[in-house]
Amino acid sequence: MTIQEKIKKLKKEKNAIILAHYYQEAEIQDIADYVGDSLGLSQQAAKTDADMIVFAGVHFMAETAKILSPDKIVVLPDLEAGCSLADSCPASTFEEFVKAHPDHTVITYVNCSAEVKALTDIVCTSSNALKIVESIPKDKPIIFAPDKNLGKYIISQTGRDMLLWDGSCVVHEAFSIEKLLKLHEKHPESIIIAHPESEEHIIKVASYVGSTSGMINYVKEHRDRRFIVATEAGILYKMQQEVPGTELIPAPAKEDNTCACSECAFMKVNTLEKLYTCLRDESPQINVSDEIRKKALIPIQRMLALSK
Ligand code: 13P
Ligand code: SF4
Repeated sequence: MTIQEKIKKLKKEKNAIILAHYYQEAEIQDIADYVGDSLGLSQQAAKTDADMIVFAGVHFMAETAKILSPDKIVVLPDLEAGCSLADSCPASTFEEFVKAHPDHTVITYVNCSAEVKALTDIVCTSSNALKIVESIPKDKPIIFAPDKNLGKYIISQTGRDMLLWDGSCVVHEAFSIEKLLKLHEKHPESIIIAHPESEEHIIKVASYVGSTSGMINYVKEHRDRRFIVATEAGILYKMQQEVPGTELIPAPAKEDNTCACSECAFMKVNTLEKLYTCLRDESPQINVSDEIRKKALIPIQRMLALSK
């Protein structure tokens, strides 16, 4: 049997579902039951009736799935699949920050640990961040963490004065504005699209800014154009499937001599082989203590209620 056949057989026997993020390797996306952005993946995790969730993504995504579906087994192919944004916000330091601003509503981007979510009033993802921020009464001051780039983008769109945590994504900060502008000069008719985790100067020159799903939908709606895509390169696989024949150019990274694009090393530690073994061995599992889970569930559910 091929590894794909073995995975499919085990999946059936164990009543498991495979959820994969757009940044996963193509062969993982191909075997997944659902491929999506952070919001779509958490919505799937909340509604599935599978007994086991194999989460082909990074740790905070699998943890969110466990918080939403505590009775299910949640496995991650490799526990090293972390996130620089989540790492930039340690719960103990964040707790002090929140305590120092007791009148603020705390909004956290889903790219953070369960402990940080437990200190939060409402969670958001890149696809609903504007809506979530706008749902907070205008006279309420806001703490936004951990992504300062997404935070700055929201401030530019809503005019809200938010207190930003100083976190960022290593992958989205790797794009070079100089190289990007040069590339656009070479293809002046192309449209630049960017993920809001990108730096301000990249976002300023983008014609569309949105989540991974939002970017795919935008390209589908303008399929006769050429695109320069400023997000992790894994998205190009699904995007190209949706718009065959449309030219998609990855935005160039700053210090990159071997590859023209940006890859998330955390996402890429997951392999098809590891996906198979975690399904077979039901390990490594993601677990969250009851105390943290109950607290973290509230802001996630608030987000889901606002995202229907
Ligand atoms: P999306 O929610 O847009 O898929 O983003 C997830 C992520 O980690 C981007 O780096
Ligand atoms: Fe985290 Fe950035 Fe990787 Fe997304 S691309 S998982 S934000 S490090």
